[in-house]
Amino acid sequence: MCAQEISMKWIDLRSDTVTQPTAAMREAMAQAEVGDDVYGEDPTVNRLQDLAAEMVGMEAAILVPSGTMGNLAALLAHCDRGEEVIVGDRAHTYMFEAGGVSALGGLHTFAVPNEPDGSIPLDALRSAIRADDPHYPRTGCITIENTHNLCGGSYLSAAYTRAVSAVAEEHDIRLHIDGARVFNAAVAQDISVQELTKPADSVTFCLSKGLSAPVGSMICGCKAFIDKVHRVRKQLGGGMRQAGVLAAAGIVALETMVTRLAEDHQRARRLAEGLSGLEGLTVETVEPPTNMVYMRLEDTSRQVSERLVADLAGEGIRINPPRGGRIRLVTHYWIDDAALEKTIDALARSVSAG
Ligand SMILES: Cc1ncc(COP(=O)(O)O)c(C=O)c1O
Repeated sequence: MCAQEISMKWIDLRSDTVTQPTAAMREAMAQAEVGDDVYGEDPTVNRLQDLAAEMVGMEAAILVPSGTMGNLAALLAHCDRGEEVIVGDRAHTYMFEAGGVSALGGLHTFAVPNEPDGSIPLDALRSAIRADDPHYPRTGCITIENTHNLCGGSYLSAAYTRAVSAVAEEHDIRLHIDGARVFNAAVAQDISVQELTKPADSVTFCLSKGLSAPVGSMICGCKAFIDKVHRVRKQLGGGMRQAGVLAAAGIVALETMVTRLAEDHQRARRLAEGLSGLEGLTVETVEPPTNMVYMRLEDTSRQVSERLVADLAGEGIRINPPRGGRIRLVTHYWIDDAALEKTIDALARSVSAG
């Protein structure tokens, strides 16, 4: 069975992390020139790092195994133990990274409510920044997320990012962007990704989500910061030796998979439209959508959601059960128009049978 057949066996809308590498990535991986990256000697990793830094308009970049390690290493490099990180209360860093910044880094988190669009109001940010008082932890960093996963894949604008950056600068604290899907944010707004990244001190983005590479995330920032991250990555066990085999796929991802994200966004729109008339479920719309559609079943019983997941699985479609009452559907490279229409039909049938 070839790679494409394996990928297409399931229509998998659980996440864009399920994406398989493309044929071009597999070929580049097979041909990759490699070396020991812990010695800085892997030419393919070095090429990926240079390319990533150039694309986001920062001085330097470093490859890490995951977005979670990317956020963790960035925050540990920005802050000293006992310092505080301001974060949205729906942020991935706060909700889904197993409390790593506290458990491993001794950092305190101050969670400020996110707005439905994923932003944190500027006045709330300002009032979360600690006064210089020995009773308080020192505020070290603000983290924002773009696009915002739990907030429906919504994106933050360049103007908002600049405004947050100005608040951070005013108080001499750092700004980190969890940009796991920052290229989706740029494509959705039809702007250069640099408009979203350059106002920050650092950004983490993932190669392994909508960009479809098998493994890897990049942390980008100034040279001195990336040097610091290098040591933290080592402490976390993230030094990866002949990582050029992974970096080769990452280069293909950055060179060929960014602009096509617009197709995933169009399909998310079609999915939202196709589902919105259906009785028994409510679709949350983000305008314009990126690559996510969230929906809620009106009947919130476990039986109904389990039946929906099972009905779809019976038709070769994978979705996750609801979390917090919401089901997230994610479009990506391996979801074509036919897969999308099949999903809309299957969902309609299952929901109306209820
Ligand atoms: C917004 C966001 N940040 C960070 C991550 C973590 O990435 P990884 O799964 O590579 O650790 C994810 C993963 O889904 C995410 O959605």
